[in-house]
Amino acid sequence: MRIAVIGMGKMGQAVAGRLLDGGHDVTIWNRSPGRAGDLVERGATEAASAAEAATAVEVVLVCLADDAAVLSVVTGEGEIASALGESAVLVDMSTVSPETAAKLAEATGGRSLAGPILGAPSAVEAGKAVYLVAGPRDHFDRLAPAYGALSEDVRYLGEERERALQLKLLANYLLLAGLVVLSEAVATAQAVGFPEDVLRQFLDSSPLVAPGLRNRLDALFSGRHTDWFTTPLGAKDVSLAEQMAAREAIRLPVAELVKRRYEEAAATGFADEDLTAVIELVRSQAG
Ligand SMILES: NC(=O)c1ccc[n+]([C@@H]2O[C@H](COP(=O)([O-])OP(=O)(O)OC[C@H]3O[C@@H](n4cnc5c(N)ncnc54)[C@H](OP(=O)(O)O)[C@@H]3O)[C@@H](O)[C@H]2O)c1
Repeated sequence: MRIAVIGMGKMGQAVAGRLLDGGHDVTIWNRSPGRAGDLVERGATEAASAAEAATAVEVVLVCLADDAAVLSVVTGEGEIASALGESAVLVDMSTVSPETAAKLAEATGGRSLAGPILGAPSAVEAGKAVYLVAGPRDHFDRLAPAYGALSEDVRYLGEERERALQLKLLANYLLLAGLVVLSEAVATAQAVGFPEDVLRQFLDSSPLVAPGLRNRLDALFSGRHTDWFTTPLGAKDVSLAEQMAAREAIRLPVAELVKRRYEEAAATGFADEDLTAVIELVRSQAG
């Protein structure tokens, strides 16, 4: 398929690379140009603007940081929505609010799907990520070749676009809250002098540590919080979950605390680091 990937951050690059490997014709665009030179070497075409990338493709995949970025690039004047071909479909793979999905549907005349991703960029590259998709079924069906190259685990959640985002936000809330608690437990165990091998063995095999948290234990123990899913994006996702609950008059006081931990990590030098950097707050704030 002729596919445009908008946004060459960690996720956009992984998605575009996977599509190139699957034999698709890929056009890329990023606000800061030249961020994906290796993809161009592998056969992608770099467009001069988002609108140019969206012209003459069958699918536009959007992988941008947050609601503001997505709305400006898709619905801004002269941007993607006005350039989208009549039979083209836009899939927003970013983690955004359900309201943004509704705005994208309106701007594209209904030719949009909400398609957030569960999994790290490395999981996307390996074809192991989970793709949640919601929106008009006929649009989804036409994208089978693209999704076929991305993963075997593509979950269609029905016509209502907000369903995919609601599930994504709840999944991330579980991850983000769990990681704060795990960071506190590891830092405390280390502070009381627990032998690291015994602690590690316990956490590696404990049913109380979910697999999605267990794969971050290396970073928590080593203190190497390499680029993966940055702390400001973590704070953004908790905030979106809080807002979703608030619309139903449900208060999430724990979410407020969790969000603040990621914000604080971002403000104290860990804005470009993985979420696991929250453990450094616990360590740095010890007596
Ligand atoms: N990383 C993960 O593990 C992961 C997993 C699942 C879902 N996600 C979601 O996937 C999306 C992308 O995440 P990522 O990890 O790829 O983030 P990232 O590496 O920080 O990249 C962010 C992208 O957004 C662009 N951007 C930011 N503000 C913009 C604006 N105002 N206008 C235009 N472009 C803008 C950046 O462009 P510049 O290069 O010009 O700054 C960059 O292309 C996010 O919604 C995130 O929550 C991430």
